[in-house]
Amino acid sequence: MCGIVGYIGTEQAAPIILDGLARLEYRGYDSAGIAVYNGQDIQITKSVGRLKVLEELTHGGATMPGCIGIGHTRWATHGAPSQVNAHPHFNKEITVAVVHNGIIENYIQLRNRLSKRGYEFVSETDTEVVAHMLDYYYTGDPLETIAKVLHRIEGSYALGVIFASHPDELFAARKDSPLIVGQKENGCFIASDVPAILRYTRKVYYMENQEIVRLKKDSLNFYNFDEEEISKESVTIEWDANAAEKGGYEHFMLKEMYEQPKTVTDTLLPRFKDNKIEIEELGMTDEEMKEIKKIHIVACGSAYHAGMTGKYVLEGLARIPVEIDLASEFRYRNPILEEGAMVMVISQSGETADTLAALRESQERGFKVLGIVNVVGSSIAREADNVMYTWAGPEIAVATTKAYSAQLIALYLLAMKFAEVRGTVSAEVLEEMKEDLKKLPDQIEMLLNNKERIQRFANRYIGAKDVFFIGRGIDYAISLEGSLKLKEISYIHSEAYAAGELKHGTISLIEEGTLVTAVATQQDLFAKTVSNIVEVKARGAFVLAVTNEGNTEIEKAADYVIYLPQTNSYFTNSLAIIPLQLFGYYVAVGKGCDVDKPRNLAKSVTVE
Ligand code: G6P
Repeated sequence: MCGIVGYIGTEQAAPIILDGLARLEYRGYDSAGIAVYNGQDIQITKSVGRLKVLEELTHGGATMPGCIGIGHTRWATHGAPSQVNAHPHFNKEITVAVVHNGIIENYIQLRNRLSKRGYEFVSETDTEVVAHMLDYYYTGDPLETIAKVLHRIEGSYALGVIFASHPDELFAARKDSPLIVGQKENGCFIASDVPAILRYTRKVYYMENQEIVRLKKDSLNFYNFDEEEISKESVTIEWDANAAEKGGYEHFMLKEMYEQPKTVTDTLLPRFKDNKIEIEELGMTDEEMKEIKKIHIVACGSAYHAGMTGKYVLEGLARIPVEIDLASEFRYRNPILEEGAMVMVISQSGETADTLAALRESQERGFKVLGIVNVVGSSIAREADNVMYTWAGPEIAVATTKAYSAQLIALYLLAMKFAEVRGTVSAEVLEEMKEDLKKLPDQIEMLLNNKERIQRFANRYIGAKDVFFIGRGIDYAISLEGSLKLKEISYIHSEAYAAGELKHGTISLIEEGTLVTAVATQQDLFAKTVSNIVEVKARGAFVLAVTNEGNTEIEKAADYVIYLPQTNSYFTNSLAIIPLQLFGYYVAVGKGCDVDKPRNLAKSVTVE
């Protein structure tokens, strides 16, 4: 899961590449490198650590003159983060340089073969074999050479390649890793994602699997792996370049949290036609919706937590049995998919390797897959049979906030649509639910505007060692996400438990002063959760409770209470997540953590 950028044109390449890489740091940031052809040779500079180290080393690119180059920001998979393992990789004479995102699965065999032929390897990476293969198979024709190499490598890749012998051409190829191509007057670009090049152009081509592109300063040619030229349509990116920038907030995470009212509106409104829920992209007739026997939700990380809420909402409203799986488990557990089952994969990036594999596994078994995806043109968006987009826009902070909120909305809409068609909820109740849905953006805004109270509370807990989150039903689902938010960015150990499960072990971990966050938004389970609060209080816990307005009796049991505005009980997660996100954020800020780029994590996990 790395970021690649390339440029060829009339301007200096290095500053453009560094600028693009900075916008892709969410894809990887343990090391970075750049290769530029300077008129005579390919010059390569690499460094360990954040991109700013490379920027300083090259004086913002000034030490690397030239109008064609490629760059890379890395998240280590094969070989530790180090200068030699950083990309670009190259052959002995440095006549070819390569950047790569993905994994070359047969690299050990290829490496052995190349070693026998006298090639020496300096890095531990899988990518270095590509550089040496390009050298070994070099025919004088870069396109032909690249095609020969691609026929011999297995795995996933977005590759950017430059040859010293062809300094007016840049090449790129894609299989199973994201890659886009941009074009403007007197310059062309490659990148792993749109924000990298949005400053320069809005004209973008999405590379499909098994495609190669040749970029010159004023032309683009696309080919399949058989070197046959193919034609591609460009798309114009509509979203604002500012949407991919911090816009005055201290962190992307804070900015993205504040975008949630808009995200929720953007995900809701296109699906309301004359106050009716229409999800055209579902591609299902009413008859087909009635016949769904079971739903399998498959996802990773926060998308899995959204799916967990989805399970409660879909089962509760539409009375369809829902199984939820982590994609990394689903793909290898030989899942039983019976006739009438529907598979839904949820993914912000649309590139998560395990989720993509789960999608393919389902399709191979003859099942259509609905993708709930944020990134337009991503692999899951392209491969799913039907796609319901969560219109959250680009999300840069590694810890997801707005995309998660949008996923919840998509799932509510699906549950309500199915409930309507299947007649499991009365028209009257559905009308009330629609009104509640429309109020969510303002209610989220109100909770965000009350951030000071949570900020003050969070500051007390920056020294915490363990934090527990408890809840029942939907409140358990939100506890999982609240706990993940806290631990992934603040590095404080935290766990979520179904409140009723506490007695079976976890309660022994509660000590004097341990923080327990109890979510109690489900009125029918309220008394039960309050009992659990009392139990942990009796063992010395300090309890932060999140509940609905009006539930003031909780103050007898809990130490600190956050009240949520009234909404339908199925939608409370959309509100409860706001204080939990803010809590995690302010604890991490208080500890001085790198909130947007927590250690060891990447935004887009394109390897399993
Ligand atoms: C990574 C991200 C998480 C995300 C998960 C699934 O772990 O850090 O925020 O929830 O991947 O990603 P996806 O793009 O499939 O939603």
